[in-house]
Amino acid sequence: MKIDVLTLFPQMLDGFLSESMMGRAREAGVVDVGVHNLRDWAQGKHKQVDDRPFGGGAGMVLMPEPIFDAFESLESPGSHHVYLAPDGEPLTPEIAQDLAAREHVIFLSGHYEGIDERAREKVIHQEVSIGDYVLTNGTLAAAVAIDCLCRFLPGFLGEEKSLTSESFQGSLLDFPQFTRPAVFRDMPIPEVLLSGNHAEIEKWRQAMREERTRQRRPDLLED
Ligand code: ADE
Repeated sequence: MKIDVLTLFPQMLDGFLSESMMGRAREAGVVDVGVHNLRDWAQGKHKQVDDRPFGGGAGMVLMPEPIFDAFESLESPGSHHVYLAPDGEPLTPEIAQDLAAREHVIFLSGHYEGIDERAREKVIHQEVSIGDYVLTNGTLAAAVAIDCLCRFLPGFLGEEKSLTSESFQGSLLDFPQFTRPAVFRDMPIPEVLLSGNHAEIEKWRQAMREERTRQRRPDLLED
C-alpha cells in the first residue's frame, strides 16, 4: 500500500515512521510512506501557505492553491484523499480497515483555523477526526490514523500478534494480561491462569471483558 502525508511539519513523523513495527513494515515493503512538506507547493518568495480568513476572525487559513497543486502532483488514479480535522468523522476500526483496503491514500494535516473550504469540497474525499479534542495541528492525527490502518495490512502484524483478541473486537474491551513472575510483591495472578484449563481461562477472560466494558465503556453495551 502507498501512503502520502502532506504536512507543514514533516519532521514530526520521523520517529514514528522509523521505529518499531512501522519501521520494520516499511523496510519489508508492506507499506510505502511518503512525507511531503506542503510548503514545497507554495508560491512566491515567501513560500506563503496561509492567509487571513475572509470575513475576519482569529487565526490563519491554509490557502487553496498549494493544496490543489500538491494533490495534483501526488494523486494517482483511484487515490483516496483524507483530511485530518477535529470536525471530521470519528476514526473507528471500520474506517481504518476501509483505508487499509485502498491502494493509495493521501493524508492532509490541517493547521491554524483550518483549510479553505474549496479544497475541502473539491480535493478531499473523507474527513477524519481522532477524537473530541483539538490538537495544534493534524500531523499527529495523521500518524494515529496511519498506525491504526497499518495494523489491518496483510503482513504488518507479526505471527505473535493478532487482531482476533483485542479491545473493540466484538465490541468489548480486552481482558487483563499477566506475565511472570506469578507472584510479584505479594500480588498473585488470578489462579485460573495457572490451571492449564483452557475452557475455564476463556470463560474468565470473557467475564473480564464484559466487566471491564461495563465499568469503562457502558456505551459499547447499549442495544
Ligand atoms: N487536527 C486538530 N485536532 C484534530 C483531531 N482531534 N483530529 C484530527 N485532526 C485534528
